[in-house]
Amino acid sequence: MSDQIRVLIVDDIPETRDHLTKLLGFESDIEVVGAAASGGEALELATRLLPDVVLMDINMPDMDGIAATELLSARVPTAAVVMMSVQGESDYLRRSMLAGAREFLVKPFSSDELTASIRQVYAREREKLDRLAVATVTALPAEDRAAGRIVAVFSPKGGVGRTTIAVNLAVAAAQELNRRVVLVDASFQFGDVGILLNLNPKSKSIADLVPELEGAGEPESLDTFVVSHSSGIRVLLAPPSPEMAELIHPAGLKKVLETLRRTHDLVVVDCAAWFNDVTLGVLDLADVILTLLTLEITSIKDMRLFLEVADQLGYGDKVQLVLNRADSTLGIRVADVEHSIGRKIDHTVVSDGRNVVYALNRGVPFFLSNREAQVSRDVLRLAEAIAGPRLEVVAERAGEAGRAAPRKSLFAWRS
Ligand SMILES: Nc1ncnc2c1ncn2[C@@H]1O[C@H](COP(=O)(O)OP(=O)(O)OP(=O)(O)O)[C@@H](O)[C@H]1O
Ligand SMILES: [Mg+2]
Repeated sequence: MSDQIRVLIVDDIPETRDHLTKLLGFESDIEVVGAAASGGEALELATRLLPDVVLMDINMPDMDGIAATELLSARVPTAAVVMMSVQGESDYLRRSMLAGAREFLVKPFSSDELTASIRQVYAREREKLDRLAVATVTALPAEDRAAGRIVAVFSPKGGVGRTTIAVNLAVAAAQELNRRVVLVDASFQFGDVGILLNLNPKSKSIADLVPELEGAGEPESLDTFVVSHSSGIRVLLAPPSPEMAELIHPAGLKKVLETLRRTHDLVVVDCAAWFNDVTLGVLDLADVILTLLTLEITSIKDMRLFLEVADQLGYGDKVQLVLNRADSTLGIRVADVEHSIGRKIDHTVVSDGRNVVYALNRGVPFFLSNREAQVSRDVLRLAEAIAGPRLEVVAERAGEAGRAAPRKSLFAWRS
């Protein structure tokens, strides 16, 4: 199992919340991601934290567990609810199940009963999602099942938002456009993707793939090296320490990207900011090079130089310019930038320090925590420009396969 089971505890009694948190703290495959004291708080937390399992008390003062479960099933369909109650009556049980709960635990229960329920519910849910994935893949039109697009997120200057855009673009394409997305952290020395997504630093990374890449053939499957994130995207992390960066050669990375594009619609690559043979290898292979710049004179100068090089390398139309942190108060206008670099900006993403930095520090992509913010809308527009419109055919088919909402099909990519 590559990931822990993310659990949200909902109970109005503080001692119960503490007790459950402590109990689950002993289990290495379970992580308590939050605790809510009311139904309202549970909805709010579940929307932000996307837990796999919600332990829900049935009797709570503001909104009872059954009403909360009903709303939760609609809003966060990927969270499976385990109801907890002191009453074991069949009416409670029936109403809970109708509201969408997957399990019913009668208090007091033992810690073994609790962990077994959590694991069971989680395993069942994954099985269901896997079946849904099969339906999803067969529902895709043939051309969408052909090799996926490789999108390099690059900039000739560091710190302009490559990782931020790469992560949120990937999440937007998966969640809103129903694409199968894998995000590759090719900033091998100082990759930040794992931090932005709050992934376990001990997770597998591209460094674990090195022995496999040294063979002559193509690796069959990279499934065991790719980590699943609760947003539905899959991630191939950068090595855990900078000196390991040297182990990955351009030819190896090329094999990785070619293999990943066979099973994903979109392979988003967060590139390093400098030109080395690895970065050039990615740019050569990419279908689209999203090149980021900001409204700073140094960024604009570097962009001018990059565009000259890109011309010489024959990248032509595949370079698309993204102006990140667009903010009209900075003293440089977009028109000035376009004039200076001699070409049009293709996409802009607004500056929103509040949402972006808050999300970064919490390890939740802003696209998940604040979808209505302008910065999220800009990222969605960018994702649509790259990946095309939402695949409704997938959504319809996934909807038929169960009571799951369309978005659910994406979570089937957990491994
Ligand atoms: N649209 C935005 N609005 C506000 N802040 C932003 C925006 N995009 C990025 N940032 C902030 O800018 C900083 C740099 O972003 P990020 O780490 O994504 O850049 P990078 O190009 O990947 O940097 P590095 O060269 O370190 O890899 C971060 O603090 C991030 O939160
Ligand atoms: Mg970065």
